[in-house]
Amino acid sequence: MQNFAKYMNKGQETELKANSKESGLAQFVRVHKDNNIDWSIIPYIQKHSGLPVFVKGVMCKEDARIALDNGADGIYVSNHGARQLDTTPATIEVLKEIVDEASLFARENSTKRVEILFDGGVRTGSDVLKALALGADTVWIGRPVPWALSCEGTKGVENVIRLLNQELKEAMLKCGCNSIEDIK
Ligand SMILES: Cc1cc2nc3c(=O)[nH]c(=O)nc-3n(C[C@H](O)[C@H](O)[C@H](O)COP(=O)(O)O)c2cc1C
Repeated sequence: MQNFAKYMNKGQETELKANSKESGLAQFVRVHKDNNIDWSIIPYIQKHSGLPVFVKGVMCKEDARIALDNGADGIYVSNHGARQLDTTPATIEVLKEIVDEASLFARENSTKRVEILFDGGVRTGSDVLKALALGADTVWIGRPVPWALSCEGTKGVENVIRLLNQELKEAMLKCGCNSIEDIK
């Protein structure tokens, strides 16, 4: 538990209690959850980092709209692997409504197309194809990477990427798509 003490903000160190029923990691995460964060964090991060800000974990068009109204540069459709809330909708089910909302926002505000990132349950090349067809610009994977890493290290991860690539190409062939643009 003390391993985490050095990462605490000043004054928070005492909040890590040795006799707590929570693990040191659980205490660390809890103390660092700032429940006062609101959407104004988006321009704040943009200003102080000088980087574009993508909002991850968006699962409905209403939240996509709020994020964009608050200056988000892009939307990352994700349910964090459904690890926080089980029985949450699948990300693929909500992707289209968010893509449509982002397009509407861009038209209304005469801005460039809003970039849409996507993840959640992507396990095959045809999953990638479906997400691209529904309007995702980039498709990400989470757990397949640590799973492959734990089985075969670097080689395992390379294999996952190679397989996904191969499956995506095969799925594209079968759908008559010669390029990623054709999928869209
Ligand atoms: C062990 C683990 C920890 C994660 N921690 C975070 C996190 O701190 N923040 C976050 O936005 N997503 C987190 N995620 C979600 C991933 O970033 C990603 O959205 C998700 O794993 C994609 O779904 P998939 O694993 O089904 O491919 C975590 C996922 C796993 C498996």
